[in-house]
Amino acid sequence: MNNLTQEFQKIFNRNEDPRTFFAPGRINLIGEHTDYNGGHVFPASISFGTYALGKRRKDTTFRFYSMNFPEAGVIECDLSNLRFNAQHDWANYPKGMINHLIETGHSITYGADILYYGDIPNGAGLSSSASIEMVTGVLLERLFQLHIDRINLIKLGQKVENDYIGVNSGIMDQFAIGMGEKNHAILLDCQTLDYDYAPIELEDHAILIINTNKQRTLAGSKYNERRQQCEQALADLQKELSIESLGALTNAQFEQHKQLIKNETNRKRAKHAVTENIRTLEALNKLQNGDLEGFGQLMNASHHSLQHDYEVTGKELDTIVEAAWEQEGVIGARMTGAGFGGCAIAIVQKDNLDDFKQNVNQTYKKVTGYDATFYTAAISDGAKEITKEVL
Ligand code: GLA
Repeated sequence: MNNLTQEFQKIFNRNEDPRTFFAPGRINLIGEHTDYNGGHVFPASISFGTYALGKRRKDTTFRFYSMNFPEAGVIECDLSNLRFNAQHDWANYPKGMINHLIETGHSITYGADILYYGDIPNGAGLSSSASIEMVTGVLLERLFQLHIDRINLIKLGQKVENDYIGVNSGIMDQFAIGMGEKNHAILLDCQTLDYDYAPIELEDHAILIINTNKQRTLAGSKYNERRQQCEQALADLQKELSIESLGALTNAQFEQHKQLIKNETNRKRAKHAVTENIRTLEALNKLQNGDLEGFGQLMNASHHSLQHDYEVTGKELDTIVEAAWEQEGVIGARMTGAGFGGCAIAIVQKDNLDDFKQNVNQTYKKVTGYDATFYTAAISDGAKEITKEVL
């Protein structure tokens, strides 16, 4: 934190101490591609995240600097022009937050200098963009004494992603990052936003994050395509069923009415959305009954459905997950996040971790030519101020 403060003072040529904020990244234990289908998700915030150090200015200029993108330099804009600007690159995330806060009636009449540093592995599907949005949101809330409830800040983050950045994502990432709690995952009903915390006490097991190190090109367009396919499937079902979302269906109801969905691909997509939602509820149940094995089997079934029905995994994620399933001490493994590259997660017996990493990497490298990277996930708190004086 001291280094970051010094960097802030150097980059912005200011002597004062800035205030410091942190927002985590997230993993999703189960419940994938269910959020925008009105289903349940079960994510947790992790110890990797984004730090933001900020101080108000006396004029109306905002200056942004990221230690992760030093070549982009200091990016500047004025309160009078907060429109999306492709040249502003990563800084569009904080700009979007300022813009949407003002648009929703919050009073920001001065500028600020903000320095960012993130340790979320790049492009890994651990929600680095939602992390930047939420850390900026909390910073602005404190710096400008805005009175904004956390759930509204989360919704605003999603709106920035959808309307300002142009990615049609659901609410899961901002929610997990905004509401995270140490050693707990969150069961969130994405239709009602009702939520509950579930303790994650794995004792002699660890949650391992496995990065495919594969760039997630095409992720945005394929993501939006999946969303549309689900919307079409829902519209077909609504001709006879009065449901608001795919998340309202049980597996049996889906089986009974699936022929209403005319397009075969759309039917497969909807099948995933329905079965994954039910799996997520069952998974929580297993966890609460201390049945970790049962939880792991549902994780495996989730991956299978994402591979065959939703088709968002790809060679890299499948190779890693299938190799993980073969290892000793593995409870379960699946892709996490949007898919198309990015990360998988596995629950592994701690004694087996070294062999697990070595074996999985060996297979992965042989098949794809890439090395995988492994991180042990600590489940941590959500977005908050961490300035020393306020702790
Ligand atoms: C991305 C999106 C989320 C969610 C997941 C898939 O992370 O941002 O809203 O849809 O993909 O579960």
